[in-house]
Amino acid sequence: MKRVLLFSLFTAAAWTHPGEVRSYAVHPFAKFKNLASGANTASITASAPTPLECFQVAEPVLTPLGATRRDTSQPPALAPADQKPIEAAADSAGASSPCAVVLMEHTFANSYGAPFVGNYTPPKCDFDHVVINFTTLVRGRQFDRTGVMYLGDAEVWRTSTAEPTSYGIRWEWLKDMTAFQSLWKQPQTLVFDLENIVDNTYTGLLNTTLTATFFQAAGKSKVNGGRYHPADLIIPISQHLGAAGKPSQFVYPAQQATDTVEDFPRNANRAVFTVDVKGQGNEEFWWSNVPQSAAHAFDATYGEYPGYSPFREVQVLVDGHLAGVSWPFPVIYTGGVVPQLNRPIVGIQAFDISEHEIDISPFLPLLCDGEPHTFEIKIVGLDDDGKSAAVLSTTTDDEWYVTGKIFVWLDDERSVTTGTLGALDPTPPIITLSQHLTQNATGANETIEYSLFVSRKLSITSHVKTQNDQGAVTWSQWLTYSNKGGVFNFGDDNLNSFYISGADAATGPSTTYATSYAYPLFSNSTADVSPQGNLTLWAQLDQGLHVEVSGDAVFPTGLEGFVATGIVSAKDAIRGSVLSTWRNGTANYYRPGDNSYSIGAGRTHQVFSFGAVNPSGPATQLYHRDVSAYNDTITADHVKVAGRGVTG
Ligand SMILES: *[C@@H]1O[C@H](CO)[C@@H](O)[C@H](O)[C@H]1NC(C)=O
Ligand SMILES: *[C@@H]1O[C@H](CO)[C@@H](O)[C@H](O)[C@H]1NC(C)=O
Ligand SMILES: *[C@@H]1O[C@H](CO)[C@@H](O)[C@H](O)[C@H]1NC(C)=O
Ligand SMILES: *[C@@H]1O[C@H](CO)[C@@H](O)[C@H](O)[C@H]1NC(C)=O
Ligand SMILES: *[C@@H]1O[C@H](CO)[C@@H](O)[C@H](O)[C@H]1NC(C)=O
Ligand SMILES: *[C@@H]1O[C@H](CO)[C@@H](O)[C@H](O)[C@H]1NC(C)=O
Ligand SMILES: *[C@@H]1O[C@H](CO)[C@@H](O)[C@H](O)[C@H]1NC(C)=O
Ligand SMILES: *[C@@H]1O[C@H](CO)[C@@H](O)[C@H](O)[C@H]1NC(C)=O
Repeated sequence: MKRVLLFSLFTAAAWTHPGEVRSYAVHPFAKFKNLASGANTASITASAPTPLECFQVAEPVLTPLGATRRDTSQPPALAPADQKPIEAAADSAGASSPCAVVLMEHTFANSYGAPFVGNYTPPKCDFDHVVINFTTLVRGRQFDRTGVMYLGDAEVWRTSTAEPTSYGIRWEWLKDMTAFQSLWKQPQTLVFDLENIVDNTYTGLLNTTLTATFFQAAGKSKVNGGRYHPADLIIPISQHLGAAGKPSQFVYPAQQATDTVEDFPRNANRAVFTVDVKGQGNEEFWWSNVPQSAAHAFDATYGEYPGYSPFREVQVLVDGHLAGVSWPFPVIYTGGVVPQLNRPIVGIQAFDISEHEIDISPFLPLLCDGEPHTFEIKIVGLDDDGKSAAVLSTTTDDEWYVTGKIFVWLDDERSVTTGTLGALDPTPPIITLSQHLTQNATGANETIEYSLFVSRKLSITSHVKTQNDQGAVTWSQWLTYSNKGGVFNFGDDNLNSFYISGADAATGPSTTYATSYAYPLFSNSTADVSPQGNLTLWAQLDQGLHVEVSGDAVFPTGLEGFVATGIVSAKDAIRGSVLSTWRNGTANYYRPGDNSYSIGAGRTHQVFSFGAVNPSGPATQLYHRDVSAYNDTITADHVKVAGRGVTG
C-alpha cells in the first residue's frame, strides 16, 4: 500500500531486498516510526559483482548507428542487416569521429537545491539531429528521485530514477532531442536538477553520465512527406532561473504557474504549447485520491486521505482563456504502489515523462499583436458535495512540478500574422459521480466506493493570415475519463479501475496534426499491519498505453530511426506511428515491526508494440518486445525488429 511509511529518516534498518515505499500522508505513520526506532543497522552481505540493468521498455531511437536500442538489455544495433548507418557529423577540422560531447559527469549526493550546472557551447560540427544518453549507476538504498534537465530556462527532459539494490543497478536512457534544435545551436546554461538525499539510511549516490551526440540525418529521417523541421524558437513558460544556475520549474499550487511573454514574435505561423507536469506528495497517486468530501472519512483509523477526487485536468490558458487541456498519464514511479513491481522493468514513462502538445495557433491573431501576453498552467481536480454533485476545483493538494514551452515556427522577419480570433472559452466538462460510504456496527467508516465519469469537448477555430497562407485554423480535443474506485478496510486497501481516452487534432491551411490515446490502469492493493507492527503489502497493477500520432508533431514519433535506415521507406506515405503497450504485475512485501529486515518479490510482464500506420491497410509492425521478470530477474525476453527476431 503506497502511503505506508516503511522507512523514515529516523530508522536505519537492515534489509535483504530493499525497495523504498513512498509515503507522504503524515497522520497514520507516527506509529510506524515509533515501532521502527529500535531497529538494527544495516549489515550488507558480500555484493554481487555486476549491477542489475534496469530499463523502460521503449521503441528504438535514431542515433548515428541507426535505429538504436535504449538500454543494455537489448543488443546494441537493433536493425536487420540491411540497415544503413547514418553519418555522424564530422567536426569542422574534418575528423570523422562522431561529434559527441560529455555534458555532465556528476555524482548526486545531497543535491536538494544543488543542481549540476554546466556551460554548454554548441559543437563545431554541422548537425540537424541531437540524441542524449543518460547513464546512471547507483548502489545502496534510495527512493525514486525526480530529475529535470534544462537548457537555460527551458525544461527539455523530465525523468525519474530507479530504486537500487545493495549490489547496484545501472540504466541508460537515450532521448532524441532534435525538437530542441534552436536551443542546441546557442550557448546555454545546462541545469540538471536531481534531488537526492544521502544519510545513514539512504546510502545510494546517483553516479551519472550525460552525453550528447550531434549528427546529420535530414532528408533521411523525415516522415510525413519531409515537411517537418524543428521549431525556429522555443519560449519557456517557467520561472526563468537558468542564468542563476537554478531549476526553473514552478511548484504548484504554492506558486502560480504564470509567465508573461513581452515580445511574442509577430511573424509566427504556428505555435504549439507543451506542458510537463509531475505529481508529488499527496498528488503522486492522484488517480487513487478520494472525493474531496471523504478526505477525512478515515481520520480515526488511517489518517487524512489525499482528496480532490481521482481526476486531474491540466489547463493551458492564454490571457486567461482556456486554450487546451491535458488529462495526465498516470506514471507509476519505481517506488510506486509496491516497489517490487518496478524492478528491473520500470513503469511506462518512468524515465521519460511525455509532454502533451496543445496547438495554440488559433490564438495567433491575438498573440501576434505586439502586446505582452500571459500564459498560465493550472491543475485542477474536483470538489464534491458528498453525493453526486461535483465541479472542477480551483486547486489541488501539494504538489505538482510544472513547466511549459511554446514551440514557434516563424515567417520572414517583417511579416505580421493577423486574422480573426474565434469564439473562446468552451463549456465545462460533464461530470457524473456516485459514491457510497459504509460503517461497521459501531459506526467507524469502513469503506468508500465511488464511480466517476468525466467527458469534455473543446474546439477553437480562428481565421489566421500568415505570410504564405490564410484560412481556418482549428484546435480540437475530445476526452473521456472513468474511474471505479474504492478504499476498503478502514483506509488500508485501495481498488481503482481507471481509463482515459482522447483525441486531439490541429488543422490549418498548412498544418495537420492528430493524435489519439488511451490509458487503462487497474490497481488493487492491500496493506496489513499486525498488532506488533508487522507490515504486509500486496498489489496487482495492470497498466496500458496506446498512442497514435500523425502529421506535424513537435516531438519525435519514434519512426525516425526506421525511416533514416531505410527499414521503412519515406516514399511509403506513412500516415503516422502507433505505440501500444500493456504491463501486468503483482508484488508483495513484508517487514516485521522491528524493521530488522524486509523481503518481497514482484512479477511483471510487459508487451510492447510499435509500428507505422499506413493510409490503408493494417499498421506495419516495426518493433515488438515481450519481456517478463520475476524477483529482479528477466525470465523471458523476445525482441523483433521489422518482423525479424533479434537475440541479445
Ligand atoms: C551510453 O553511455 C554509456 C556510458 O557513457 C555507454 O556505456 C553506452 O554504451 C552508451 N550507450 C549507447 C547506446 O551509446
Ligand atoms: C559513485 O561515485 C563515487 C564518487 O563520486 C564513488 O565513491 C562511488 O563508489 C560510486 N558508486 C558506484 C556505485 O560506482
Ligand atoms: C465518516 O466519514 C464522513 C465523511 O467524510 C465524516 O463526515 C464522518 O465524520 C466520518 N465518521 C467517522 C466516525 O469518522
Ligand atoms: C469498527 O471499527 C473500529 C475501527 O477499526 C473498531 O475500533 C471497532 O471495534 C469496530 N467495531 C466492530 C463492531 O467491529
Ligand atoms: C483485490 O485483491 C483482493 C486480495 O487479493 C482480492 O480478494 C479481490 O478479489 C481483488 N479484487 C479485484 C476486483 O480483483
Ligand atoms: C493484462 O492486463 C490487461 C488489461 O487489464 C488485460 O487485458 C490482459 O488480459 C492482462 N494480461 C494478463 C496476461 O494478465
Ligand atoms: C511479527 O514479527 C515478529 C518479528 O519478526 C515475529 O516474531 C512475529 O511472529 C510476527 N507476528 C505476526 C503476527 O506475524
Ligand atoms: C528472490 O531472490 C533473492 C536473491 O536471489 C532470494 O534470496 C529470494 O529467496 C528470492 N525470493 C523469492 C520469493 O523467490
